[in-house]
Amino acid sequence: MNLKDLYIDYFISLGHKQIPSAPVVPENDPSVLFNTAGMQPLIPYLMGQPHPYGTRLCDYQKCIRTNDLDEVGDTTHHTFFEMLGNWSLGDYFKDESITWSFNFLTKVLNIPKEKLAVTVFAGNDDIPFDKVSFDKWVSLGISEDRIAKTVEDNFWIAGESGPCGADTEIFYFRSNDDIPKVFDPDDDRWVEIWNNVFMEYLKKDGKVSILPKKNVDTGMGVERTTAILEGVNDNYLSSIWKDVIELISQISGIKYEDNPKSMRIIADHIRTAVFISSDYAGIKPSNTDQGYILRRLIRRAIRHAFKLNIDINSDWEKQIASLIINKYKKYYKELSDNELVVYEVLKNEKEKFNKTLEKGIKEFEKIVNSLNGNIINKDLAFKLYDTYGFPIELTEELASEKSLSVDTIGFKEKFREHQEKSRTASQGKFKGGLAGNSEIETKYHTATHLLNAALKQVVGFDVHQKGSNITDERMRFDFSCDHKLSDDEKAKVEQLVNKWINDSIDVKCTEMKKDEAIKSGAECMFIEKYPDIVTVYSIGDISKELCGGPHVKNTSEIGKFKIIKEEASSAGVRRIKAIIE
Ligand code: SER
Repeated sequence: MNLKDLYIDYFISLGHKQIPSAPVVPENDPSVLFNTAGMQPLIPYLMGQPHPYGTRLCDYQKCIRTNDLDEVGDTTHHTFFEMLGNWSLGDYFKDESITWSFNFLTKVLNIPKEKLAVTVFAGNDDIPFDKVSFDKWVSLGISEDRIAKTVEDNFWIAGESGPCGADTEIFYFRSNDDIPKVFDPDDDRWVEIWNNVFMEYLKKDGKVSILPKKNVDTGMGVERTTAILEGVNDNYLSSIWKDVIELISQISGIKYEDNPKSMRIIADHIRTAVFISSDYAGIKPSNTDQGYILRRLIRRAIRHAFKLNIDINSDWEKQIASLIINKYKKYYKELSDNELVVYEVLKNEKEKFNKTLEKGIKEFEKIVNSLNGNIINKDLAFKLYDTYGFPIELTEELASEKSLSVDTIGFKEKFREHQEKSRTASQGKFKGGLAGNSEIETKYHTATHLLNAALKQVVGFDVHQKGSNITDERMRFDFSCDHKLSDDEKAKVEQLVNKWINDSIDVKCTEMKKDEAIKSGAECMFIEKYPDIVTVYSIGDISKELCGGPHVKNTSEIGKFKIIKEEASSAGVRRIKAIIE
């Protein structure tokens, strides 16, 4: 049995209810892009709201931390990880929590207690020394020499405000050296594996108050603990990663020892990209927020695949993603539900980046060769971004490999100016477009939604809109699709659209919060372009899309729909031209 199953079974046997992992994007905290800890989705309950599953909970939670993204490539850093957690919401407190953690480690995982050490809260002006935890550890047989007291490292809060409290951290001696008698938390042979936070306070506007209930929040990282249990010093050699690394080695024909850094980056980044793009939040690569992280991860993975001489045009990324999906789908249903979406996101982004990657690398070399000094200026960095699609962080990474630096601050200013200009331009265009919408254009607009829905039914649900253009004379619709449509497919799509037109279906417009709209299954092309409150147009139960409109009130107003041309638009994208008669 693996660590996750052992953990969940153990806490269920102690009266806990297993709760499902929340999506990677926090549902109630817009201040962070991703869930970074198991407790994040539970904040309202730690604050006092009753949880529908009761007062004892446990789970494994998908977490993403991107502050260390550039560190990935060494033996321990990951952008995605799973956190095991058990919680008491005003139920048990320090005594049970510490006892159960100790028993799980020593009796279920059979870790000798001599290999464990702990830290407890030393006390400050506001909160006293945590004597209860200290005494508990001693009573369980942890020698006083192996209990360190700290202030800074033994108070836990997610960010600046929220539920918080003193914690006790459990460390494991990850080395073959003799174990020192006295525990030093700064000695990095000791690695932290579990953190038990006793959440009894609330920090708000710098002030600390008492929460209505005393809670426990614990967190244990799956990757790290698995590596420890398997006795490996490189996380990527544990059972979590071994087969992924082997596959990358097989695809590239390069041994792990010969370029472990690039292999770890590919393994880590593709896994995180799989979890982001399969999440029900529906994130797609973009230039902002979560979408930008997804883009950076995929592009960095591609660049390292390039370094390993992998044929970028082969389906290497799909092979790796498929292995990851198969490993995890038992635990996360979204991976099976959205398997095709994941492959499509990876492939589309790869195709986009691959067009410019090689030229961009050449341009970079050229820049390096003609550089006066050792700083890549903002204009050059912006050119790499704008013309070759290099995220600034990628330029920084390339630069640091050559011991150069980049004027990132200047780049960001230039980037903002550029954004400002294009926003103004697109707003102007949008206004003009709306104002100029004729009756026939409105009909075409609704026909576009019907065509999108029909393509999904006939060609496959992984068809997504990639663009559209409407004039008084015709509509043009671009969509993701890997093949030329057959005559039969075209005929079926046309018939379906006309059937829906003949069915005289009402078109409804509702306003809702963007995340609710996405959760309800509404389609949208560029999620990051929409404000928090969006309009959603529904056509019966056939189509639901985020859209600015305008649309006809009933499909019967459209007229007869006819496809006049189907052709390739770009790699993986087809284009349909159609008219209304
Ligand atoms: N919230 C604590 C942590 O992330 C314990 O789960 O370490």
